[in-house]
Amino acid sequence: MPEQSSLPVRVDTVDGIRIVELSNPPVNALSHALRAGLMAALEQAKADPSVEAVVLTGAGDTFVGGADIREFGRPYQEPTLWQIDDMLLAFDKPVIAAIDSFALGGGLELAFHCHWRVAHERARLGLPEVLLGLMPGAGGTQYWTRLAGPRSALDHLTSGKPVDAKNALELGLIDAVTDSDVCEAAVAFARAKLTENAALPSYDSRTEKLAEGTDDLFDTFVRGQERAWRGLFSPLKIVECVKGACTSSLDEMLLAERDAFAQCAGSPQARALMDLFFAERSAGKTDDGPTLPIRSIGIVGAGTMGGGIAMAFANNRFPVVLVDADQAAIDRGMAHIRSTYESAVTKGRMSQTTAEAALNRITPTTTLADVASCDLVIEAVFEDMDVKRGVIAKLDTLLSQDAIIATNTSTLDIDRLASASSRPDRVVGMHFFSPAHVMKLLEVVRGGTSSPDVVRTVVAIGKKLGKIPVIAGNGEGFIGNYILDAYGRELDYLIEEGASLWQVDAAMRDFGFAMGLYEMRDMAGLDVIRRVREQRREWERPGRYPLVADRLWELGRYGQKTGAGYYIYEGRKGARDPLTEKIIDEVSSEQGIVRRSFDNQEIIDRLMAVMANAGAQLLENRVAASASDIDLVMVHGYGFPRYRGGPMHWAEASGLDTILAQLRAYAAADGDRPVPSSLLETLVADGRGWSADWQKLQ
Ligand code: COA
Repeated sequence: MPEQSSLPVRVDTVDGIRIVELSNPPVNALSHALRAGLMAALEQAKADPSVEAVVLTGAGDTFVGGADIREFGRPYQEPTLWQIDDMLLAFDKPVIAAIDSFALGGGLELAFHCHWRVAHERARLGLPEVLLGLMPGAGGTQYWTRLAGPRSALDHLTSGKPVDAKNALELGLIDAVTDSDVCEAAVAFARAKLTENAALPSYDSRTEKLAEGTDDLFDTFVRGQERAWRGLFSPLKIVECVKGACTSSLDEMLLAERDAFAQCAGSPQARALMDLFFAERSAGKTDDGPTLPIRSIGIVGAGTMGGGIAMAFANNRFPVVLVDADQAAIDRGMAHIRSTYESAVTKGRMSQTTAEAALNRITPTTTLADVASCDLVIEAVFEDMDVKRGVIAKLDTLLSQDAIIATNTSTLDIDRLASASSRPDRVVGMHFFSPAHVMKLLEVVRGGTSSPDVVRTVVAIGKKLGKIPVIAGNGEGFIGNYILDAYGRELDYLIEEGASLWQVDAAMRDFGFAMGLYEMRDMAGLDVIRRVREQRREWERPGRYPLVADRLWELGRYGQKTGAGYYIYEGRKGARDPLTEKIIDEVSSEQGIVRRSFDNQEIIDRLMAVMANAGAQLLENRVAASASDIDLVMVHGYGFPRYRGGPMHWAEASGLDTILAQLRAYAAADGDRPVPSSLLETLVADGRGWSADWQKLQ
């Protein structure tokens, strides 16, 4: 093996075979330094008559995780990946890629430019660029289609789904799989090719699978994806290139692919998705320090939230004690859990064995003392300060002194809850989102007294559950509900002022939200929303209080569960209801509001400006640590369109000065409108963005 050094590319020669090892931890991304080293190594190997073949491999257990995403958006620095790929295409000695763990994006394209590919059986190969709003730009669409056919190219390139080594071999993407050292296997492969004096393969002649690419294949595929791709740019560009691979020459399509790649790379969606990629990886970063061992979980409350949280843990191999006050409640909770697993099995999302094993990890009980030996107990009882304080006080007497008590409250003051126990430093918020076994977001709410090791532990547990843990301070509504509350009020004002609520929901959906605000409220239940509001009277915002929700509640219209809320329902399907319009009209005239019409752009402008302003207040009040954390919360917990990057990303891309001007104009026109946050004022005055070190400004 090559000698260890800090160089990004190390070389070694074994029996005439030059091993070129790429090293750029942690994922060997193809940074400029790595590309320069690789180009030099290839030139040397080409020029050296004693080198008969080259094996290209990655250091550690990785081949290459892709282009270096941090370099996107900057001018290309030579040698580019295209130049390296061209060099490989013209290489007159066999080059074999030795792929361990993963070859992704530009890494797989690099491997495609080698003559042959040998992979370890654990390896995964994929072109996930679409997940970043991009597409393969170094031949990926063309070579995958030629090697494995257009059907598989469409499937994998538009979803970003990788294939495992066995599948890759069956598809024709690679030439051999090994269960031993992949570099040694690649050297042996090279030796065999030299011995048999094998001709170097060329893509020009690999056309046998292209006939599968009929118009019907493409039309049917695109029709089937219309909903999933709503608003997205790059999937259609990928389809165009895969289609072109079947109908046009390779040279022509390689140029067309570069052009399409440039269009994707320059799109606002790519910027938004790349920012989210890094935001997701930096979420929940805590100071270094020990975490507490968590082996067993207790959950108090077997309702929808408690059951979902139990499944989230059980699916990740934690034993769970699920407790509720009476037998009927626990039976209902377990029946719901059982039917959720059954439906996962029926839909093919889980095997019967996995589902049974998970279910068996949940022990139902009506005795609170059964959680006494658990290391972490999460209360998920009724959203009521006294009820929750009562449970926390009881847990305090039962649990060992080190055990963590977490509350799943979505709105209540963590410090007041913590003060019900004799160990407020062990109390923390774990705000899951429903359904808790599915939704990725976990708000970890740090109370004023929560100790750092408790916060670290809960963040680490969130990661083990596959969640994105975002740390929030103990402010009103934490991060997500604070913003929801702010924009909910703005949209309520809009419907009182003349926008139809159907239009508001449609404008939100057109913008890319999973659903409109009023559809969401009907799903959550207007009774639940009312109860939450009553619990947080001390946090009521100043200004006019929007009345429509209360009027509907007074009529017993709680949403989907009562067959009527803002909408009227048959099953889950909501229809417009003239009665709702009548109520809104009445509320407007009672308050002397002159109604006018709004276009969708104004609705979205107001929505975005108010969200960004609320986000700025969270930063100012140190409830959120960064703008990107706020974006993660809104994208992963509140249906904000991922490809728009989140409200803070959107605001910055639109210009914070524009957002501030809008907020000022709204506030000038109507005294009930939110006042612009002073942080936003300062950043705009200084010409800075969110990422400025705003904490120093205070
Ligand atoms: N460019 C730059 N940095 C990258 C990167 C890339 N292509 N891929 C990963 N990283 C960084 C991450 O930001 C993270 O940095 P951090 O430790 O400073 O937070 C680090 O590498 C580890 O990444 P992570 O995702 O946490 O590791 P993992 O082992 O869970 O997953 C991958 C590894 C490669 C599967 C995953 O990082 C990934 O999917 N990367 C993107 C692949 C891609 O889209 N390639 C195509 C780009 S054109």
